[in-house]
Parts: sequence; structure tokens; C-alpha cells
Amino acid sequence: MKVLIAAAEIFPLVKTGGLADVVGALPGALISAGAEVRLMLPGLPAILAGVEGLTTVCELGALFGAGRVILRLGRIAHNGVLTYVIDAPYLYQRSGNPYQDSAGREWPDNIQRFALLGWVAAHLAAGELDPTWVPNVLHAHDWHAAMSCAYAASHPGQRVATVFTIHNLAYQGLFPVQDFHLLELPSRLMVSQGLEFHGSLSFMKAGLKFSQRVTTVSPNYAREIATEEFGCGLDGVIRSRGGAVSGILNGVDGSVWNPASDALIASTYSARNLKGKPLCKASLQKELGLRVDANAPLFAVVSRLTSQKGLDFVLAALPALLQGAVEGGAQLAVQGNGDPALEAAFTTAAASYPGRVAVWLRYDEALAHRMIAGADAMLVPSRFEPCGLTQLYALLYGTIPVVRQVGGLADTVVDATPEAIQSDTATGFMFGPATALGLDQALARALEAYRNPPLWQQLMLRGMAQNFSWDVAAAQYLALYGDLLQDGAAAGHASAV
Ligand code: ADP
Ligand code: GLC
Repeated sequence: MKVLIAAAEIFPLVKTGGLADVVGALPGALISAGAEVRLMLPGLPAILAGVEGLTTVCELGALFGAGRVILRLGRIAHNGVLTYVIDAPYLYQRSGNPYQDSAGREWPDNIQRFALLGWVAAHLAAGELDPTWVPNVLHAHDWHAAMSCAYAASHPGQRVATVFTIHNLAYQGLFPVQDFHLLELPSRLMVSQGLEFHGSLSFMKAGLKFSQRVTTVSPNYAREIATEEFGCGLDGVIRSRGGAVSGILNGVDGSVWNPASDALIASTYSARNLKGKPLCKASLQKELGLRVDANAPLFAVVSRLTSQKGLDFVLAALPALLQGAVEGGAQLAVQGNGDPALEAAFTTAAASYPGRVAVWLRYDEALAHRMIAGADAMLVPSRFEPCGLTQLYALLYGTIPVVRQVGGLADTVVDATPEAIQSDTATGFMFGPATALGLDQALARALEAYRNPPLWQQLMLRGMAQNFSWDVAAAQYLALYGDLLQDGAAAGHASAV
């Protein structure tokens, strides 16, 4: 089985969120499970620098506004995965992140930048660009790579099976309809049964309409997005795909996130020897300027600061969380950046509670490890959460997650109800209503459990014993690819567009 994975981010080269972690780990797991996998990535500066031994596969000439596009092939330096890189300096040689400039503005030519990614992936999959390697499965991730499904479906020679994975339905890649001509697609695709979405042109819809299978990153999110509440206007499209939509839970890359071998934390530890955990906590408190106090329950947030993540609930719950004794009283450490209003509010909170609230408005991978290892509990009170990775990392680090019962959070955390405690299945604290009061109540339960060390340790050990190996997800993706190929899916597919 030959699988081409197309995406815009990959850990550790380019990362704005969990998508990069997934694209960094999934290919290796699929390869271990027996698939032949190659990646297709845009030639962003960090990707060109991080893919070794690049050789030219073919010169593509002028495309999507770029005067010169070259397809190259090399290997990701740290894991050796063979990777096609689209070298198009005019579109990709920029500072900032893949989607925005350093001032946070969307790149004005994103339509061309990500159409190119999809176009090259589809034409490679059609066997036109690299005669030595033609995949039978094209697996596109998020709206950035979604156009590959439309280009594949409209390609007369299309034979590849297509899978589209939604990591976050809230980011859709919407562009003005009048720019449709830039895509060089037949105009029959610019209809409501195609790419048109409420007067815009939607890359996300290209993935949803023109792939043969749609997956999301947790089973619960797959169910949720078929509803109006979570469907971001696309729930009807999701429902129309019926059984072609399914959820496969993300895994954790154990070579990056493992407290027993993590070189980025103050002291390693494991379920069998937890001694390093309090050392990590003391070291983190010191580093962040928090009172060094082993008895103070330390809550942490590591997150993009966006409304998705529900961090306004944390701000609202803060006075109740911090009330009471200063000695042994709760502490909060927040690491994240994004929404200026949230950044300002957390900065104010840190100034109001010196030594008890610390805020780091920076992206820093190593600090994220120290936060997750050093905290007692991790807050993920999201309004919606397709999968969520930080609660998985927290579980494996013996850091108790306090999460909202939504999306992948509900699939991965077992609420500490009396029954779950009794049966030793509980791993964290969960709340239902998307309100500050909901979070307040979960925090109160967490604080009570913290004052009961045997119970707290029980929760820690149950979490640390969870298996989030990527092997599990890889086996499910392979089964899905296998089903598709067996169906002779290309024949019966929505392709005839
Ligand atoms: P999302 O992809 O929606 O942001 P996830 O929980 O899936 O949420 O993944 C977030 C990833 O980004 C995790 O690997 C987390 O550790 C990381 N992360 C988020 N904010 C920061 C930050 N400020 N510094 C370092 N890592 C961060
Ligand atoms: C998205 C989602 C997040 C998920 C990640 C990786 O960014 O917001 O919930 O964990 O993708 O799939």
C-alpha cells in the first residue's frame, strides 16, 4: 500500500498546533505497520531546511502565480520519512507562519499557496509527476491540503483513493468566489454541490465533497460535527456523507512525550518511580516566579489563546480557584499566545496575583514539556475540541486533566465519579455546561481530590497507564485505506465531476 500524506505543517519543522504533531508521527506509525508512506509539504523555509538530500523530481514551470515551481524529494532529517517538497519561492519563501505574516494577517495569496499544495499532490497521485512512485491512497489533512481531493476528482485519469481528515472544522479556508478562476478547475465545481459555501469558495468543502472517506481526529467529534451546534455550517454536508465519515483518535508520539525519557524536563519519572514529578513541579514554580510550594495545587494551561479553548472560563473561575489560604493555595500557570484580549486579561491576572499566577505569552516547545511535567493538573475547558493533545500528554505525565465533556476530550478522559473511582477507571475531571460555573464545579472537585493524596495518586497512575500509541490509530487508518482499495473505490467514487 502506497500512501501520500499531504499537509501544511509538520513537527518539529513547522508547527502552529496539534496538526503538526499528528503529521510528525502518523507517517512513521503507518510505515511501522507496513505501508509505504511519503509526505507532500509546501516548501516553507523551515521545511526546505529540515528535509535532507533534496533532489529534483521535476520542474513544474509557472503555476498559481509562481514563476518557477520545482518538485523535490528528500528525507525528513529526524525520522527519515521520504518527503516531496514543493519548492515555489514566490509563494512559500516567507517568514511568519504557514497561514499568516508575522503581524498575524492572513497571507493575501493563500488561495494560490494552498491550491498549489493540492494540485501537486493530486497530479503526483495521478502518476504524472514521479513515474517511479504512484500512491494508491492520497490522504489530505485539513483545508490546507483539501483541494487535492477536488483536483484528484476532476482529473480524467484519477485512480487514487482519497481520504480527507478534518482536524478542525472551524478553520475552513474561505476565499472570494471571484477568485475561483485562479484554481483552474472546471466551473461546474463552483456550485453548492461543490466548492460554493454561502457565497464563498470553501477549501474545507472540497475535502468534504470530493474525498472518498472523511475522518476526524476523535469518534465523538465525528458525531458532533453532524449537528448544527458543532457543524460550523457544514453539518448538512457532513450528514450527506453518511457512513463515509468516521473518527480515528489521535495518538501520542512516545519518542517526544514520555516522562521517563523526556530530556526537556527537570527530572524524568515514571509510574513506577514518581520521585521526579515533585522536582519538576518545584523547578517549574521557580522558573515561572511562582511561590515554590509543594502543597499548592498547580494548574496549567498550554494552549492557543482562542475562543475555541474556553480560557475565558478560566479567567472567570480564577477568583474562586485562588481564594483561601495563600500557603498551600492553588496556583495557575498559563502558556499560550493568540487573541490579544485574552493575552491582556491573563497578563492582568498575573499582575493581580503575584507568585500565584504566571503567564507566558510565548510559543516555546521546551517550556510546554516543563509545564505539563511540573503541573499537578491541566485545564482544557474547550468549547469544542476535535481531539486535543495536551490532555493526552498530561495523562501520560501524571498531570490530571480538567476538561469539558466535548469532542476528543470526552473520548479520552474518564471523569472521577464515585463509580469510576471505585472501579479505578477515573483519570480526570470533566464538566458539561460551557460556562464558568461548570468549570468552577470541576475545579472544586479537583481541589478536593488533591487534598486526598491516595486518591490523587490513583488518578495519576490510571492516567499514566493509558495507551495512546500511534500504532492503534495507524492500524485503523490502514484498515480504512484497505477498505477503500477493496471497494475499488476509485470506480464508484464521487469522482465523476
Ligand atoms: P490545537 O491543535 O487546537 O492547538 P492540540 O491540543 O491538538 O490543540 O495541540 C496543541 C499543540 O500545540 C500541543 O502540542 C501543545 O503542546 C502545543 N502548544 C500550544 N500552545 C503552545 C505554546 N504556547 N508553546 C508551545 N507549545 C504549544
Ligand atoms: C486541531 C484541533 C485539535 C486536534 C489537532 C490535531 O488543531 O483543534 O483538537 O488535537 O487538530 O488533530
